[in-house]
Amino acid sequence: MTAPDLSTAYDAMATRYAEDIPDRYHSSPLNHAMIPVFAELIRAAGDGLVADVGCGPGHVTAHLHTLGVNAFGVDLSPEMIALARAAHPKLRFEVGSMDALTADDASLAGILANYSIIHTPPGHLPVTLTEFHRVLAPGGYLLLGFQAYDGPDELAEPFDHLVSLAYRYSPDRLAGLLHTAGLTEVARLVISPAEDPRRGFPQAYLLTRRPAN
Ligand SMILES: C[S@@+](CC[C@H](N)C(=O)[O-])C[C@H]1O[C@@H](n2cnc3c(N)ncnc32)[C@H](O)[C@@H]1O
Repeated sequence: MTAPDLSTAYDAMATRYAEDIPDRYHSSPLNHAMIPVFAELIRAAGDGLVADVGCGPGHVTAHLHTLGVNAFGVDLSPEMIALARAAHPKLRFEVGSMDALTADDASLAGILANYSIIHTPPGHLPVTLTEFHRVLAPGGYLLLGFQAYDGPDELAEPFDHLVSLAYRYSPDRLAGLLHTAGLTEVARLVISPAEDPRRGFPQAYLLTRRPAN
């Protein structure tokens, strides 16, 4: 699916998404377990700016703010951004692509991509990761959340997502791609498939860092 098609598909689902997903995010401790860790690392590194890419209706951007992080949101879908602005009028949200961020080189202390690389085809992912590396300052953190795939060989397996075709990624193989893009793994969290009654997929968080100079 092209970026305009994906944006249109999320526009159509945005209101329903905003009614459902933020509550699920806040009500499940495992769903947001890595966010306070990420926030604490950002604060300890000196309080720089963080991009929540593919921010949807902005609930995680807002959570980062409550944890003392200067975060802004970016999303392909204008409807998602309109809902994010309405729900969190004091925060900054922009329509844009995570593949072409407006941030300067080495200007961000962190990037969060919470379930937003899931529509990126595996062959395109190196482009996205190179963009993340470009905008991260040395020592900056990238946190990726995604549906995981535990097959032995493949980087990704496609699955039927409500909005559009999506991919679940192998944490090991994705960590390898991140390494190739210049980002070093710091930690990971893998949540049991038993915690996902709907699809029975494991969920994973990979925390990586651009090495300090
Ligand atoms: C499954 S939702 C996740 C939203 C939010 N991060 C959350 O945790 O609920 C995926 C979001 O990523 C956005 N997205 C997907 N690909 C994108 C891209 N290349 N650039 C910017 N946003 C993108 C979609 O528009 C959608 O809002």
